[in-house]
Amino acid sequence: MKQIVTRLVVISLFLSVSALFLLDLTVTKATPQQRRSVARSSGTQVGDLFRNNCARCHGADGAGDTPLGHTYNAPDFTDSDWWRKHSDITTTRSLVSIVSHGKGGMPAFSKKLTRGEIRHLVDYVRRFRNQKP
Ligand code: HEC
Repeated sequence: MKQIVTRLVVISLFLSVSALFLLDLTVTKATPQQRRSVARSSGTQVGDLFRNNCARCHGADGAGDTPLGHTYNAPDFTDSDWWRKHSDITTTRSLVSIVSHGKGGMPAFSKKLTRGEIRHLVDYVRRFRNQKP
């Protein structure tokens, strides 16, 4: 009798451990999806960040065709020629630094945005390239 009880205890312990293990597996399996959904939501967030902080000069389409963009002479990010001519400053590192510290008519954003946000924004700006109709 005692043996049976011990065996039952061992079996139920084993079952709960494997249940935990399975649970862990499903969580691990869900992670890439979660990551993807985070990426998607940061995709919309970066769009919002751009519209809220940058579009008044650079335009929602990145072409810089806004009154402020004209006043300050904002570049046209949809123009692949601009990227070619400025290849010396278009590394992510350099653009992140420019946006952080400001340049010409562009204010510094290092106090307003995190480095991560600025990095996402630079990737976002890069996507305007070759968008010229
Ligand atoms: C007040 C207007 C203004 C705002 C707001 C603004 N920019 Fe700019 N941005 C400029 C101007 C003007 C330049 C060109 C600077 C120069 O070359 O002298 C520029 C240049 C840039 C460049 C290219 C670097 C270069 O040397 O031309 C990037 C990248 C950039 N801005 C990204 C951003 C991002 C991202 C934001 C939002 C967080 C932003 N800008 C907000 C006006 C602005």
